[in-house]
Amino acid sequence: MHRIKIGVLVSGRGSNLQAIIDNIEKSLLPAKIAVVISDQPDAYSLERARKHNIPAVHISAKGYKGKRGEYDALLAAELQKNRVELVCLAGFMRVITPTLIKAFPNRILNIHPALLPAFPGLHVQKAALDHGVKFSGCTVHFVDEGMDTGPIIIQAVVPILDNDTEDSLSERILRQEHKIYSRAIHLYAEGRLKIEGRRVLVIDGKINAAEFLLNP
Ligand code: GRF
Repeated sequence: MHRIKIGVLVSGRGSNLQAIIDNIEKSLLPAKIAVVISDQPDAYSLERARKHNIPAVHISAKGYKGKRGEYDALLAAELQKNRVELVCLAGFMRVITPTLIKAFPNRILNIHPALLPAFPGLHVQKAALDHGVKFSGCTVHFVDEGMDTGPIIIQAVVPILDNDTEDSLSERILRQEHKIYSRAIHLYAEGRLKIEGRRVLVIDGKINAAEFLLNP
């Protein structure tokens, strides 16, 4: 079976990256990480990649203030050099510009720690607690030109408990992130995701994405 080549963009600790690596190594995900790229030189993600013999590259954004498109052209060039077919943002703390989106149309995924369209942006676990919602969760979506606005592939729901703190909620959401990101990549790799307007349909499957989460 063809193993889809993915490029993972990171900025930090990389627990989602690790979950993807682990699922690939356990043969649960027919993919190969062609390159991991960080905008931060000391991101632990880079170390995680190197430990698994995955090419790990730091591309500094210094000198690109106000020139985000030019920076994204560097990212696109590195991804293309490594023949990446699917780009996965995993805790990449920069807003992507049309330069990168046009280089990989409908081929960029992101994971967000809330049930979009609620709580886009940053510090969203705190925002969910402050707002008093009873459920939050996480979302894997295609990246478009907005902030956390692209078509939704999979979501997982996490209940909010009365004694939750930002940390405890983040931790429980993260456990679900680690499951659904690989699942979304798997569906993409199998060519089973069909974008119809804002909706992403799972085609030719025994189960659809929502059923998967009810019966994981
Ligand atoms: C995750 O919560 C993800 O949803 C968000 O950034 C965080 C990255 O965590 N986009 P990690 O670096 O994968 O551990």
